[in-house]
Amino acid sequence: MNIVIIGAGYVGLTTGVAFAYLGHRVTCVDKDPIKLEVLYKGKSPIHEHGLEDLITLASKNLNFTDDIKAVVGDAEVILIAVGTPSKANGEADTQYVEVAASEVAAGPRAGRLYCLALKSTVPIGTNRRVSQVVGRVLTERGLEGRTGVLVVSNPEFLREGMALHNTFYPDRIVLGTDQPEGIDIMRRLYERILEQTFDPPPFLPRPEAYKSPCLVTTDPISAELIKYASNAFLALKISYINEIAGLCEKVGADVTEVARGMGLDARIGSSFLAAGLGWGGSCFPKDTAALLAMGEEYGYTMSIVAAAREVNFRQRLRIVEKLQEVLKGVRGRIVGVLGLAFKPGTDDVRESPGLAVVRILVERGAHVRVHDPVALDAARRVLRELEVEFFDDPYAMARGAEALILATDWPAYKNLDLARMGRWMRTPVLVDGRNLFDREKASQAGWTYIGIGR
Ligand code: UDX
Repeated sequence: MNIVIIGAGYVGLTTGVAFAYLGHRVTCVDKDPIKLEVLYKGKSPIHEHGLEDLITLASKNLNFTDDIKAVVGDAEVILIAVGTPSKANGEADTQYVEVAASEVAAGPRAGRLYCLALKSTVPIGTNRRVSQVVGRVLTERGLEGRTGVLVVSNPEFLREGMALHNTFYPDRIVLGTDQPEGIDIMRRLYERILEQTFDPPPFLPRPEAYKSPCLVTTDPISAELIKYASNAFLALKISYINEIAGLCEKVGADVTEVARGMGLDARIGSSFLAAGLGWGGSCFPKDTAALLAMGEEYGYTMSIVAAAREVNFRQRLRIVEKLQEVLKGVRGRIVGVLGLAFKPGTDDVRESPGLAVVRILVERGAHVRVHDPVALDAARRVLRELEVEFFDDPYAMARGAEALILATDWPAYKNLDLARMGRWMRTPVLVDGRNLFDREKASQAGWTYIGIGR
C-alpha cells in the first residue's frame, strides 16, 4: 500500500520504517529541516534500538519530505502522528493534529478513497473534529461527495527503547471508527503484523511465545479513551508499588519481594511493579494530566489518577530527603547523578525523574555532577541554565564525590565496579533510585546503600 505518515517523531518514524520493511511504500512528512537532513542521510534522529539498521534495510520503500500536499494524492492511508503537547491546564493541545488534518485534506483527488488514521494521543472527540476539518476543506475544494476520506482512530502503544519491537509484535491493534470500510483498509495495512507473515529483521526476533495480536475494532471515542485509560492504569500501577515501597520502609519489608509475590497473581501480573524514582517520559505525565483535565471538563473528579500523580512526583523529593538524612544536609555537598534519560534505552529526557532530582539538588545548594551513557547531549540542552558538571565517565564523576544517586536503570550501570568506584568517593553513599544494585554486594564493596522500599 501507499502510505503517508505525518510527523517523523518517535511514533511516526518507527511506524513508517516498520511498514516500509513490511513492503508498503511509505513517505514520512516532517517540517523540521534538521531532522529531514539526518533522515536523507539514512540516519536516525533518535536513539532507538534497531531503528537505523531498519532504515537501511527498508530504504527502497522509504521516502522523506516536507510537502504534505504533494504526496497525499497518491496515498491510500495517511497516518497522523504529530505531537499533542500539554497546555498549561494539562489538556492535550490538538492544534498540530488539526493543522495536519487540514493540510492532508488539501491533497485528495476526485474519485478516490482515502483512510486517515490518527495515531497521535488525542482527547475525546478529536476524531470527530478531524472529520469536520477534513470535510470543510474538501467542500471548499469542491470535492464534497466526489472523494472519500474515512477517519479512523488508531492509538499507539509503543514504548520508547522497544518501539520497533512493539510495532512488529504488539499485544493489540485498536481501530475506532463509524465507517466499516475504514476497518477493511486498516486491516490490509496491518495484515502482515496481524498474521505475523513477515521474516523478522535479524536484530528484532519474534519472541518465542508470541502468537499474533488481537484486533480491537470499536467506536472512535472508545478507541481514544483506551489509550488514556491504559497509560493511566500503568502509571498508577507504578505509583501503587511506590506507595507500598514507602510503607515497606516503615515496617521493614522489602518491596521487591512484595512485588514478586504480588506479580505471581495472574490478575495482577509482574510488569510495571518496579518501585523507584517513579515515571517520567513523554506519555505518562502528559496523559495523566490530560485525563484529569478531561474529567474536569465534564465535572468529574478522577481521584485515583490525581493520587497516582501525587505519589509519583513525591518520589523525586523523597529520594533527595533520604540523601539529606544520611549526609545531614546536601548544601555544599558533591552529589553525582547516574542516569538522565527518563528510562534506559532512549536519549529522551522529557519529564525525566533524573533531571527532576538534579533540579531539586541544585535548588538545595548541592554541587551536582551528572552522567548518562546516551542522553548527556540531550540533557546538556535542557540543563543549560543550571550549574551542573557533565561527565562522560562514571568513575571520573565519582572521584571526590560525597554521594551518588542512581536515577535511570541503564543495564551498563549494573556492571560498574562498585569497589573501585567507592575507593574514589569522599564518602561512598549510594542512593539506588531504581533498586538496580544488590544491597549485600554494595555494602561489601564499602558503600552505605539506600534503596527504595527495602
Ligand atoms: C509508555 C507506555 O508503556 C506505552 O504503552 C505508551 O505508548 C507510551 O507510554 P514509555 O513512556 O516509552 O511508554 O515508557 P515505559 O517503559 O512505559 O516507562 C515509563 C516510565 O515508567 C519510565 O520513567 C520508567 O522508568 C517508569 N517505570 C516503568 C517504573 O518506574 N517502574 C516500572 O515498573 C516500569
